[in-house]
Parts: sequence; structure tokens; C-alpha cells
Amino acid sequence: MTGEVRIYEMGPRDGLQNEARIIPVGEKLRLIEALAGTGLSRIEIGSFVSPKWVPQMAGTAEIVAGVPHLDGLRYGVLVPNLKGFERYLDAAPEGFDGEIAVFVSATEGFSRANLNASIDESFQRVGAVVEAALAAGVPVRGYVSCVIQCPFDGEVAPGAVAAVVERLRALAPMEVSLGDTIGAGDPKSVSRMLKAVLVVAPAEALAGHFHDTGGRAVANIEASVEAGLRVFDAAVGGLGGCPYAPGAPGNVATEAVAARMEALGVETGIDRDALARAGEIALAMKAG
Ligand code: HMG
Ligand code: MG
Repeated sequence: MTGEVRIYEMGPRDGLQNEARIIPVGEKLRLIEALAGTGLSRIEIGSFVSPKWVPQMAGTAEIVAGVPHLDGLRYGVLVPNLKGFERYLDAAPEGFDGEIAVFVSATEGFSRANLNASIDESFQRVGAVVEAALAAGVPVRGYVSCVIQCPFDGEVAPGAVAAVVERLRALAPMEVSLGDTIGAGDPKSVSRMLKAVLVVAPAEALAGHFHDTGGRAVANIEASVEAGLRVFDAAVGGLGGCPYAPGAPGNVATEAVAARMEALGVETGIDRDALARAGEIALAMKAG
């Protein structure tokens, strides 16, 4: 294998969002500063969701205001509705290199649990956010959750994932990250899902978002690279447990993805020593 893969760092957002201890903004900024020096080109730093739903993300405005600005580094935040987008615009300083991410589910059960909305209702909100972001010149990314299995609805048909990806990209030609939310996939099921999605979107517009619950995330990334994908979400230190599988590993570790890609001869642009230092901060945060 040759070529390049880009890792979208999820630690400060997906990695920390379910931590029980409310982590002070200053600690999160220290982690983000360490990550910013590793050669990563995108880091997701928080979300403007309801603080009643996800209390850990309540300080995202201060984080957006406090992160270092570096050439070639863009920050992402999750935005579920227009209220969240307004909070992002209020928080982002002049010249901030940021993008927002909208998120939907391939299944009704997870959509209801995560967004208190059906898939159709969530698309109404997301459509309004995308329209506002395009008008404001803010880049948009999309997520689809439960691309393999849903903790409520069970196995997910590849066609259902493709339908939601197509619907997202009809709003704007965004990058769509495919979330194996509960880490249920294996290379076979992931390849089957990608085959259906690649009919409606080019590989360059897709990213893989694998949770490592089942310990197969790196293998699933390799299967996705085979299918042409070149962007993968990962969290430093493997931060991020799964609320549906207590004690299980979290997001695939950025360190594991960078190491495996290097072993395969694929460039990631990441300084692995600097990443290891950020990993120590991440693990101390989890322990603290
Ligand atoms: P709702 O309760 O139905 O919302 O939640 P609502 O519109 O009825 O509003 C209720 C209250 O929330 C109101 O306040 C609103 O003002 C407030 P009150 O009048 O009661 O004081 N509110 C907000 N406050 C701050 N920011 C906002 C906002 N919106 C409403 N943006 C809602 C609907 C979508 C808001 C809620 O369900 C929510 O925030 N969900 C997000 C859950 C979440 O963050 N999940 C984790 C991220 S997704 C993920 O991890 C998956 C991913 O990693 C991929 C994968 O692995 O699959 C991306
Ligand atoms: Mg996730």
C-alpha cells in the first residue's frame, strides 16, 4: 500500500464527550495544544449541542476562543441545529479556521435517542444549518451514525446508509464520515456497506469513523483504504468509551492508526513522538 491518509482527530470531542468527570476547559486546551503540534490537519474540539444532553461539551465556546491558530490546521465542532450554529458564530474569533459538522443516523432508533428526532425531522434541522453555513461561508462536514449496526434497531442494511449519505450530499457537496458507532463492523461488513455507499458518493468525499468496541477498527480502516477512502477519524489515546458497551475501548486510537499506516508505507503527516506526548496528556485526563 502507498499514498496518503489523513487522520481527523476526535479526542477532544468524541473522545471526551462521555467522560463522567467534567474536565476543565484549561485541561482540554492543553490537550488540543499538544495535538496541534503533531502535524494533524483537522481536530474536532467540541460541540454546540444541548448542555443538558451532553454536559461535558458545555465549555465549547471557550475552547473555540482559546485554541492556537496554526497554518494548515482546521478545527471542527458538532452543530445539531440553528441554535448550535448561532453559538458557533458567536464563539469563533475573527479569522478562525473552522468547520461545522452536522450529524444524522442511518437508523430511526439511534436518531431518536441521540437527537430526539426522526430521521426526517433531523434532516429538516440539518438542512437549515447547512443553508445557514453556506450563506456564512463556513465549511460543513456530515456524519452518519450506525452504518453497520444500531444499539436499538440491530443490523443496518447498506442501502439505508447509502440513502442517508445521498440525502446529506444533496444538501451540499460535503465530506461524509461513516460512523460505526458501536464498533460492530468487521472488514467484510464494512466492505459491503462501502460498496453501496460508493454508488452514491465518491471515495474522496467519504471518511471512516470506527469505534474500537469490537477490537476490529484498524482492520476496518485497512478494508476502507482498499475501497479508496483516505480520511479516518480517530482519538488520541483511544479516548471515548461506548455508552452502550461499558468498559469497552473507545474510538480507534490515533496512535494505532498512525503506526499501522506507517507500517504499510502510507503517509499520515504525523510526528509520532509528538503524538505520544499528546497521548500521555489524554490518558492522564482520563485517569484524573
Ligand atoms: P431537545 O431537547 O429535543 O431540544 O434536544 P429542544 O429544541 O426541544 O430544546 C430543549 C432545550 O435545549 C431548550 O432549552 C433549548 O434552548 C436547548 P430550555 O428552554 O429547556 O432551557 N437547546 C440548546 N442549547 C444549547 N445548544 C443547542 C441547543 N438546542 C436546544 N444547540 C437536541 C434536541 C438536538 C438539541 C439534543 O438532542 C442534542 O443536543 N443532541 C446531541 C446529542 C449529542 O451530542 N450526541 C453525541 C454526538 S453524536 C456522536 O457522538 C456520533 C458521532 O461520533 C459519529 C458516530 O460515532 O456515530 C458523530
Ligand atoms: Mg463517534
